[in-house]
Amino acid sequence: MRTIDWVDDAIVIIDQTALPAEERLLRLTTVEELIAAVRSLAVRGAPALGVAGALGVALAVRIGSDLEEQVRAIETARPTAVNLARGARRAASRIPDGPEAVLEEALAIRDEEIAASAAMATRGADLITELCGPRPRMLTHCNTGALAAVTVGTALGVVLELHRRGALGDVIASETRPLLQGARLTAWELSRAGVDFRVAVDGAGPFLMARGEVDAVVVGADRICANGDTVNKIGTYAHALGAHRAGIPFLVVAPESTIDADTPDGAAVPIEDRTQDEVNGSFPAANPAFDVTPHDLITAIVTDRRVIRPAEKW
Ligand code: MRU
Repeated sequence: MRTIDWVDDAIVIIDQTALPAEERLLRLTTVEELIAAVRSLAVRGAPALGVAGALGVALAVRIGSDLEEQVRAIETARPTAVNLARGARRAASRIPDGPEAVLEEALAIRDEEIAASAAMATRGADLITELCGPRPRMLTHCNTGALAAVTVGTALGVVLELHRRGALGDVIASETRPLLQGARLTAWELSRAGVDFRVAVDGAGPFLMARGEVDAVVVGADRICANGDTVNKIGTYAHALGAHRAGIPFLVVAPESTIDADTPDGAAVPIEDRTQDEVNGSFPAANPAFDVTPHDLITAIVTDRRVIRPAEKW
Protein backbone atom coordinates (compact mmCIF):
# COMPACT_ATOMS: atom_id res chain seq x y z
CA MET A 1 0.00 0.00 0.00
CA ARG A 2 1.31 3.45 -0.94
CA THR A 3 -0.50 6.24 0.84
CA ILE A 4 0.63 8.79 -1.70
CA ASP A 5 2.05 8.38 -5.17
CA TRP A 6 2.35 9.92 -8.62
CA VAL A 7 0.20 8.11 -11.18
CA ASP A 8 -0.51 9.29 -14.76
CA ASP A 9 0.41 12.94 -14.18
CA ALA A 10 -1.54 13.27 -10.92
CA ILE A 11 -1.05 12.81 -7.20
CA VAL A 12 -3.05 9.85 -5.94
CA ILE A 13 -3.73 9.55 -2.20
CA ILE A 14 -5.76 7.33 0.08
CA ASP A 15 -8.46 9.65 1.45
CA GLN A 16 -7.81 9.45 5.20
CA THR A 17 -10.91 11.45 6.07
CA ALA A 18 -13.04 8.50 4.89
CA LEU A 19 -11.27 5.72 6.81
CA PRO A 20 -12.12 3.29 8.25
CA ALA A 21 -15.67 3.40 6.85
CA GLU A 22 -14.59 3.69 3.24
CA GLU A 23 -11.35 2.94 1.38
CA ARG A 24 -11.25 5.45 -1.45
CA LEU A 25 -8.55 7.09 -3.52
CA LEU A 26 -8.40 10.77 -4.44
CA ARG A 27 -6.78 11.97 -7.64
CA LEU A 28 -5.33 15.46 -7.23
CA THR A 29 -4.58 17.36 -10.42
CA THR A 30 -4.27 20.97 -9.20
CA VAL A 31 -2.32 22.72 -6.46
CA GLU A 32 -5.62 23.90 -4.96
CA GLU A 33 -6.81 20.30 -4.64
CA LEU A 34 -3.51 19.27 -3.06
CA ILE A 35 -3.67 22.10 -0.52
CA ALA A 36 -7.28 21.25 0.34
CA ALA A 37 -6.29 17.61 0.87
CA VAL A 38 -3.44 18.67 3.19
CA ARG A 39 -5.66 21.03 5.20
CA SER A 40 -8.49 18.51 5.58
CA LEU A 41 -6.00 15.77 6.58
CA ALA A 42 -6.98 13.61 3.63
CA VAL A 43 -3.19 13.27 3.42
CA ARG A 44 -1.35 13.70 6.73
CA GLY A 45 1.58 12.58 8.87
CA ALA A 46 5.00 14.21 8.58
CA PRO A 47 6.74 11.94 6.04
CA ALA A 48 3.64 11.76 3.81
CA LEU A 49 3.36 15.57 3.98
CA GLY A 50 6.96 15.88 2.80
CA VAL A 51 6.13 13.82 -0.27
CA ALA A 52 2.85 15.73 -0.75
CA GLY A 53 4.72 19.05 -0.65
CA ALA A 54 7.25 17.89 -3.22
CA LEU A 55 4.68 16.33 -5.55
CA GLY A 56 2.57 19.49 -5.16
CA VAL A 57 5.46 21.50 -6.60
CA ALA A 58 5.71 18.95 -9.44
CA LEU A 59 2.04 19.69 -10.19
CA ALA A 60 2.60 23.44 -9.94
CA VAL A 61 5.41 23.49 -12.50
CA ARG A 62 3.26 21.55 -14.97
CA ILE A 63 0.49 24.10 -14.69
CA GLY A 64 3.02 26.91 -14.70
CA SER A 65 1.47 30.23 -13.53
CA ASP A 66 2.41 32.20 -10.36
CA LEU A 67 4.96 29.55 -9.49
CA GLU A 68 6.53 31.34 -6.55
CA GLU A 69 3.15 32.00 -4.97
CA GLN A 70 2.04 28.39 -5.52
CA VAL A 71 5.18 26.98 -3.89
CA ARG A 72 4.70 29.31 -0.94
CA ALA A 73 1.04 28.24 -0.59
CA ILE A 74 2.06 24.57 -0.54
CA GLU A 75 4.84 25.18 2.01
CA THR A 76 2.47 26.94 4.39
CA ALA A 77 -0.65 24.76 3.99
CA ARG A 78 0.07 23.40 7.49
CA PRO A 79 2.74 24.99 9.71
CA THR A 80 4.01 22.38 12.16
CA ALA A 81 5.46 19.33 10.39
CA VAL A 82 8.79 20.47 9.00
CA ASN A 83 8.60 17.88 6.22
CA LEU A 84 5.94 19.76 4.25
CA ALA A 85 7.90 22.96 3.64
CA ARG A 86 11.16 21.04 3.38
CA GLY A 87 9.77 18.69 0.69
CA ALA A 88 8.27 21.60 -1.25
CA ARG A 89 11.49 23.62 -1.11
CA ARG A 90 13.66 20.70 -2.14
CA ALA A 91 11.50 20.01 -5.19
CA ALA A 92 11.36 23.75 -5.97
CA SER A 93 15.17 23.93 -5.96
CA ARG A 94 15.05 21.97 -9.24
CA ILE A 95 12.64 24.36 -11.01
CA PRO A 96 15.48 25.88 -13.10
CA ASP A 97 16.13 22.38 -14.53
CA GLY A 98 12.55 21.97 -15.78
CA PRO A 99 9.41 20.02 -14.84
CA GLU A 100 10.91 16.56 -15.25
CA ALA A 101 13.75 17.42 -12.85
CA VAL A 102 11.23 18.65 -10.27
CA LEU A 103 9.24 15.44 -10.56
CA GLU A 104 12.43 13.39 -10.33
CA GLU A 105 13.33 15.16 -7.07
CA ALA A 106 9.84 14.60 -5.65
CA LEU A 107 9.99 10.90 -6.50
CA ALA A 108 13.43 10.70 -4.89
CA ILE A 109 11.91 12.08 -1.67
CA ARG A 110 9.15 9.45 -1.92
CA ASP A 111 11.74 6.69 -2.37
CA GLU A 112 13.90 8.00 0.48
CA GLU A 113 10.91 7.93 2.82
CA ILE A 114 10.15 4.33 1.81
CA ALA A 115 13.74 3.32 2.58
CA ALA A 116 13.74 5.33 5.83
CA SER A 117 10.60 3.55 7.07
CA ALA A 118 12.19 0.14 6.54
CA ALA A 119 15.38 1.18 8.36
CA MET A 120 13.48 2.66 11.34
CA ALA A 121 11.30 -0.42 11.72
CA THR A 122 14.35 -2.67 12.09
CA ARG A 123 16.35 -0.34 14.32
CA GLY A 124 13.36 0.53 16.50
CA ALA A 125 12.30 -3.10 16.98
CA ASP A 126 15.87 -4.05 17.95
CA LEU A 127 16.00 -1.22 20.49
CA ILE A 128 12.61 -2.04 22.04
CA THR A 129 13.62 -5.66 22.46
CA GLU A 130 16.91 -4.57 24.05
CA LEU A 131 15.14 -2.20 26.46
CA CYS A 132 12.02 -4.21 27.31
CA GLY A 133 12.81 -7.86 26.64
CA PRO A 134 10.46 -10.26 24.87
CA ARG A 135 6.83 -9.42 24.01
CA PRO A 136 6.62 -5.82 25.27
CA ARG A 137 3.22 -4.23 25.80
CA MET A 138 3.25 -1.04 23.75
CA LEU A 139 1.23 2.15 23.76
CA THR A 140 1.20 4.36 20.69
CA HIS A 141 -0.47 7.68 19.94
CA CYS A 142 -1.94 9.19 16.76
CA ASN A 143 -1.26 7.36 13.51
CA THR A 144 2.32 6.75 12.47
CA GLY A 145 1.87 3.81 10.11
CA ALA A 146 1.94 3.56 6.33
CA LEU A 147 -0.87 6.12 6.20
CA ALA A 148 1.44 8.73 7.73
CA ALA A 149 4.40 7.87 5.51
CA VAL A 150 4.34 6.23 2.08
CA THR A 151 4.67 2.65 3.25
CA VAL A 152 5.35 1.02 6.67
CA GLY A 153 5.55 4.20 8.78
CA THR A 154 7.58 5.26 11.81
CA ALA A 155 6.47 4.27 15.34
CA LEU A 156 3.73 1.96 14.08
CA GLY A 157 6.26 0.45 11.68
CA VAL A 158 8.25 -0.60 14.76
CA VAL A 159 5.14 -2.16 16.35
CA LEU A 160 4.38 -4.04 13.13
CA GLU A 161 8.00 -5.24 12.83
CA LEU A 162 7.82 -6.63 16.39
CA HIS A 163 4.58 -8.39 15.42
CA ARG A 164 6.25 -9.79 12.29
CA ARG A 165 9.04 -11.17 14.49
CA GLY A 166 6.51 -12.76 16.88
CA ALA A 167 7.99 -10.47 19.55
CA LEU A 168 5.05 -8.22 20.35
CA GLY A 169 2.89 -8.31 23.48
CA ASP A 170 -0.13 -6.07 23.79
CA VAL A 171 -0.81 -2.90 21.76
CA ILE A 172 -2.85 0.04 22.98
CA ALA A 173 -3.74 2.76 20.46
CA SER A 174 -4.78 5.98 22.13
CA GLU A 175 -7.74 7.37 20.27
CA THR A 176 -6.25 10.83 19.50
CA ARG A 177 -9.00 13.37 19.99
CA PRO A 178 -10.40 15.20 18.19
CA LEU A 179 -9.83 13.67 14.74
CA LEU A 180 -9.27 10.11 15.99
CA GLN A 181 -6.14 9.21 14.06
CA GLY A 182 -5.59 6.43 16.63
CA ALA A 183 -9.14 5.08 16.86
CA ARG A 184 -9.75 5.30 13.10
CA LEU A 185 -6.43 5.03 11.27
CA THR A 186 -4.08 3.11 13.58
CA ALA A 187 -6.93 0.73 14.40
CA TRP A 188 -7.54 0.24 10.66
CA GLU A 189 -3.86 -0.48 9.99
CA LEU A 190 -3.50 -2.86 12.95
CA SER A 191 -6.68 -4.74 11.94
CA ARG A 192 -5.41 -5.15 8.38
CA ALA A 193 -2.11 -6.49 9.73
CA GLY A 194 -3.89 -9.00 11.97
CA VAL A 195 -2.51 -7.48 15.19
CA ASP A 196 -4.60 -7.73 18.38
CA PHE A 197 -5.00 -4.31 19.93
CA ARG A 198 -7.20 -2.17 22.15
CA VAL A 199 -8.17 1.47 21.73
CA ALA A 200 -7.99 3.63 24.86
CA VAL A 201 -9.23 7.17 25.40
CA ASP A 202 -6.28 9.59 25.42
CA GLY A 203 -6.60 10.35 29.13
CA ALA A 204 -6.28 6.65 30.02
CA GLY A 205 -2.68 6.39 28.78
CA PRO A 206 -0.80 7.69 31.84
CA PHE A 207 -3.06 5.68 34.18
CA LEU A 208 -2.55 2.45 32.22
CA MET A 209 1.20 3.09 32.54
CA ALA A 210 0.88 3.76 36.28
CA ARG A 211 -1.07 0.51 36.66
CA GLY A 212 1.81 -1.41 35.07
CA GLU A 213 0.02 -2.32 31.82
CA VAL A 214 2.49 -0.70 29.41
CA ASP A 215 6.18 -1.55 28.92
CA ALA A 216 7.05 1.22 26.43
CA VAL A 217 5.50 4.18 24.64
CA VAL A 218 6.37 4.72 20.99
CA VAL A 219 5.34 7.79 19.01
CA GLY A 220 6.26 9.65 15.84
CA ALA A 221 7.20 13.31 15.38
CA ASP A 222 6.25 16.28 13.27
CA ARG A 223 9.41 18.20 14.09
CA ILE A 224 12.45 17.39 16.19
CA CYS A 225 14.28 20.53 17.27
CA ALA A 226 18.02 21.06 17.55
CA ASN A 227 17.90 20.38 21.31
CA GLY A 228 15.82 17.20 20.93
CA ASP A 229 12.48 18.73 21.95
CA THR A 230 9.87 16.88 19.92
CA VAL A 231 6.65 18.26 18.52
CA ASN A 232 3.97 15.65 17.87
CA LYS A 233 0.20 15.17 17.99
CA ILE A 234 -1.58 16.79 20.93
CA GLY A 235 -1.64 14.31 23.80
CA THR A 236 1.92 13.09 23.28
CA TYR A 237 3.28 15.22 26.13
CA ALA A 238 0.83 13.66 28.63
CA HIS A 239 1.97 10.19 27.56
CA ALA A 240 5.62 11.23 27.97
CA LEU A 241 4.93 12.51 31.49
CA GLY A 242 3.09 9.29 32.29
CA ALA A 243 5.96 7.18 30.98
CA HIS A 244 8.49 9.21 32.98
CA ARG A 245 6.51 8.80 36.18
CA ALA A 246 6.00 5.05 35.53
CA GLY A 247 9.71 4.61 34.73
CA ILE A 248 9.17 3.08 31.29
CA PRO A 249 10.91 3.99 28.00
CA PHE A 250 9.41 6.75 25.86
CA LEU A 251 10.64 6.42 22.28
CA VAL A 252 10.29 8.77 19.34
CA VAL A 253 10.65 7.19 15.91
CA ALA A 254 11.11 9.60 13.00
CA PRO A 255 13.14 9.93 9.81
CA GLU A 256 16.09 12.31 9.60
CA SER A 257 13.83 14.44 7.35
CA THR A 258 11.84 15.39 10.48
CA ILE A 259 14.87 16.75 12.33
CA ASP A 260 15.02 20.54 12.09
CA ALA A 261 18.42 21.74 13.19
CA ASP A 262 17.40 25.33 12.37
CA THR A 263 14.76 25.38 15.12
CA PRO A 264 16.50 25.58 18.48
CA ASP A 265 13.77 24.22 20.74
CA GLY A 266 10.08 23.43 21.06
CA ALA A 267 9.12 26.99 21.99
CA ALA A 268 10.19 28.14 18.52
CA VAL A 269 7.88 25.78 16.60
CA PRO A 270 4.65 27.16 15.10
CA ILE A 271 1.87 25.02 16.55
CA GLU A 272 -1.18 24.64 14.35
CA ASP A 273 -4.44 25.67 16.01
CA ARG A 274 -7.36 24.06 14.22
CA THR A 275 -11.00 25.08 14.13
CA GLN A 276 -13.22 24.94 17.20
CA ASP A 277 -15.87 22.83 15.51
CA GLU A 278 -13.49 19.83 15.38
CA VAL A 279 -13.76 19.73 19.19
CA ASN A 280 -17.32 20.67 20.00
CA GLY A 281 -19.97 22.30 17.87
CA SER A 282 -21.74 24.06 20.73
CA PHE A 283 -19.15 25.74 22.97
CA PRO A 284 -15.92 27.71 22.52
CA ALA A 285 -12.98 25.33 22.21
CA ALA A 286 -9.18 25.33 22.27
CA ASN A 287 -7.81 23.03 19.59
CA PRO A 288 -4.00 22.96 19.36
CA ALA A 289 -3.16 20.09 17.00
CA PHE A 290 0.31 19.44 18.45
CA ASP A 291 2.29 19.70 21.68
CA VAL A 292 5.93 19.78 22.68
CA THR A 293 7.61 16.95 24.57
CA PRO A 294 10.77 18.33 26.23
CA HIS A 295 13.89 16.37 25.31
CA ASP A 296 14.58 15.25 28.88
CA LEU A 297 11.43 13.10 28.82
CA ILE A 298 12.60 11.19 25.74
CA THR A 299 14.51 7.94 26.28
CA ALA A 300 15.63 7.70 22.66
CA ILE A 301 14.95 9.07 19.19
CA VAL A 302 15.25 6.36 16.55
CA THR A 303 15.88 7.62 13.03
CA ASP A 304 16.69 5.83 9.79
CA ARG A 305 20.37 6.40 10.51
CA ARG A 306 20.94 6.43 14.26
CA VAL A 307 19.68 6.28 17.82
CA ILE A 308 19.89 9.60 19.67
CA ARG A 309 19.57 9.73 23.46
CA PRO A 310 18.35 13.31 23.97
CA ALA A 311 18.41 13.26 27.76
CA GLU A 312 22.12 12.32 27.65
CA LYS A 313 23.14 14.46 24.69
CA TRP A 314 21.61 17.77 25.75
O1 MRU B 1 -2.35 16.12 12.30
P1 MRU B 1 -1.65 14.90 11.78
O2 MRU B 1 -2.54 13.72 11.72
O3 MRU B 1 -0.94 15.17 10.48
O4 MRU B 1 -0.54 14.60 12.88
C1 MRU B 1 0.31 13.51 12.66
C2 MRU B 1 1.21 13.23 13.81
O5 MRU B 1 1.25 13.96 14.77
C3 MRU B 1 2.11 12.06 13.67
O6 MRU B 1 2.37 11.51 14.93
C4 MRU B 1 3.45 12.52 13.06
O7 MRU B 1 3.24 13.21 11.87
C5 MRU B 1 4.37 11.40 12.82
S1 MRU B 1 3.82 10.45 11.45
C6 MRU B 1 4.87 9.24 11.08
